[in-house]
Amino acid sequence: MSEVILRTEGLCKHFGGLQATHEVSLSFERGVTHGILGPNGAGKTTLINLLSGELAPSSGKIFFKDYDITQATSDKVSRIGIGRSFQKTNIFADFTCFQNCWVGAQSRLSSSMRFIRPARHLREVHRRTDRALQLCGLAERRNIQASSMSYGEQRQLEIGMMLATEPELLLLDEPLAGMGSEESLKITELLKELAKEHTLILIEHDMDAVFAVADRLTVMVNGAELETGDVAQIRNSTAVQEAYLGSSEDAA
Ligand SMILES: Nc1ncnc2c1ncn2[C@@H]1O[C@H](COP(=O)(O)OP(=O)(O)OP(=O)(O)O)[C@@H](O)[C@H]1O
Ligand SMILES: [Mg+2]
Repeated sequence: MSEVILRTEGLCKHFGGLQATHEVSLSFERGVTHGILGPNGAGKTTLINLLSGELAPSSGKIFFKDYDITQATSDKVSRIGIGRSFQKTNIFADFTCFQNCWVGAQSRLSSSMRFIRPARHLREVHRRTDRALQLCGLAERRNIQASSMSYGEQRQLEIGMMLATEPELLLLDEPLAGMGSEESLKITELLKELAKEHTLILIEHDMDAVFAVADRLTVMVNGAELETGDVAQIRNSTAVQEAYLGSSEDAA
């Protein structure tokens, strides 16, 4: 059995009386692409926000490679190798692709490498920036200002910014949201490529993309895990069809 890279134990997040996630206990294995499905408001983004340190849980625990990161801040979580992208695009519109990825690389290196010489530090930031641009497919567009690019390319750039932090585990919140079919295919291919060298946790409403990319799927409903299994199991699950797929236009 492969190594569990991330694990949650009874993770709960309440907003006042609302239980956004409820007793979520999941294991994510290294090298496995794990899709998270569920209707609007199911608690998917909240779960990612808890894993990335953006939100602190009301109760429960989170372990990354056996380290308890339940109380870790988003900055710390990023530095230990967990990258995330946001449901809404989160780039610097006035910056070029290169500058955006530079910000990503810098954010991870600034505190961890503050004792090394500035010249070496700069070379390392540069190396990571170049690599991220290459990986996300924007190397040729490095000097283009983000605001002048298509929406699809902006989403690609956001993935690039995350890759510049050199994460082992990627948390992706609807990377295909709002894209046309051509752009979706391009990002789906990019995700497949990234999955070769990273562990991915992927929230996505686009069923074709999820089924194409994910090895394992968890369906969430009302903040709780409904079912976890491989793609065939989830496709054929009556509980899932009733609770989610049946009410989704994507599945029609
Ligand atoms: N900061 C917050 N304060 C109060 N309620 C919140 C907050 N964030 C999320 N919620 C509520 O928690 C529930 C889960 O929201 P969440 O964004 O995690 O769902 P989701 O599965 O990502 O939905 P979607 O598919 O629409 O993105 C929703 O009812 C939402 O309104
Ligand atoms: Mg969401």
